[in-house]
Amino acid sequence: MAKPVASEQSAPHVPVLLAEVLRALAPLEGARIVDGTFGAGGYSRAMLDAGASVVAIDRDPSVRPFAEALAAEFPSRFSFVAGAFAELDELVEGPVDGVVLDIGVSSMQLDQPERGFSFMREGPLDMRMTTEGESAADLVNGLDEITLANLLFAYGEERKSRRIAHSIVAARAAAPIETTAELARLIEKSIGRKPGDAHPATRSFQALRIAVNDEFGQLVEGLFASERLLTDGGRLAVVTFHSLEDRIVKRFFDPEKGAPTQSRHLPQVVAETPRWIDVAKAVKPGDAETSRNPRARSAILRSARRSSAPSRPVSLENLGVPRFRGAA
Ligand SMILES: C[S@@+](CC[C@H](N)C(=O)[O-])C[C@H]1O[C@@H](n2cnc3c(N)ncnc32)[C@H](O)[C@@H]1O
Repeated sequence: MAKPVASEQSAPHVPVLLAEVLRALAPLEGARIVDGTFGAGGYSRAMLDAGASVVAIDRDPSVRPFAEALAAEFPSRFSFVAGAFAELDELVEGPVDGVVLDIGVSSMQLDQPERGFSFMREGPLDMRMTTEGESAADLVNGLDEITLANLLFAYGEERKSRRIAHSIVAARAAAPIETTAELARLIEKSIGRKPGDAHPATRSFQALRIAVNDEFGQLVEGLFASERLLTDGGRLAVVTFHSLEDRIVKRFFDPEKGAPTQSRHLPQVVAETPRWIDVAKAVKPGDAETSRNPRARSAILRSARRSSAPSRPVSLENLGVPRFRGAA
C-alpha cells in the first residue's frame, strides 16, 4: 500500500485526481484558469506551479486564509473571489482557457463538527457552505413528512425514505432535532444497521446537504456559465462524487443529450455544431490513490474542450437533474 507523502499528511484537504485534472486542463504557461471550487487550493497551487494564472472562487468564507497564502506567494498570477461558481462568468472576466470544478465538500468542512456535515461528529445540524440560508435543521424540523421523504429519496436515493421521514416527524413533535448525532441515531433506530454496510444515515445526510446548498442547481448553472466563459478550445474539467452528479455532467457534454437549443417554433430540427469536443472518457482514481486517500473512492473526472459554437441558454431538460415534489 502506498504511504501518504508528507505534504498530503499535513494538507487539510488532499486534492483528488490531481494529476488527471492537470492532464485534462493542460495549464500551459500564461493560460488563464478558473478554479471554481478553491477549497484548500490544491488544484490552484498545481496550476500556478505549471505557470498558469488562476482566478479562484469559493463560497465558503473559511477558505480565505488558504487563498491569502497563495496570493502572497503568487501576487501577479493568483486572485480569489468569494462567491458561487453558478455565477462564475459574472465573477471572472472572460474568455478563459480552463475551468475546473471539484464538486462537493472539502475535508475541512467534513472534519469540523461545528459545520454539521458529518454524522460521525456531534455538531449542530447545519451543513451550509455559506453562512446564509436554510440549514439542515430548518429542513428536518420544518418540511412536512411527504416533502421530506421525497427529498431523501430524490437527492439521497434512500429507499427507506418514508420510514425515516415518519420517524423524524414523530421525534420532532416532542422536541426539535438539533444535532448531527441526534439525527444519525434516529435514522439508525428507524431503519436499522447491517454489519459491513455504510452507516444508515449516509444517504439522508447526502440528500440534506445537496438540498441545503442547492448543489444540483449550482452544478447545472456552473456548467452553463463555464460554457459561456471558455474560449474556443478552452478546457472544462469536473470532478464529482456520486452518480447523480456524474450523470448531469455526462449528459451536459453529450451532443445528443445536452440541453436542446432548437426553438419549438422552428419548422425543422437542424443538426447543431456540438458545444463540446474531445469529450474524454470518465476517469476514476486508481488503487494507489484510494488507499492513501479513501475520500477519493467515489470520484469521477469528466472533461472536454469548448468548440466555437455559441453557448446555449441554461436548461435542465435532458440532464437528468433529480427533482422532488412537496405535499402541496
Ligand atoms: C472538494 S472541495 C475543493 C478542494 C480543492 N480542489 C482542493 O484541492 O483543495 C470543494 C470546495 O468547493 C466549494 N464549493 C462547493 N460548492 C460551491 C459553489 N456552488 N460555489 C463556490 N464554491 C463551492 C466548497 O466550499 C469547498 O471549499
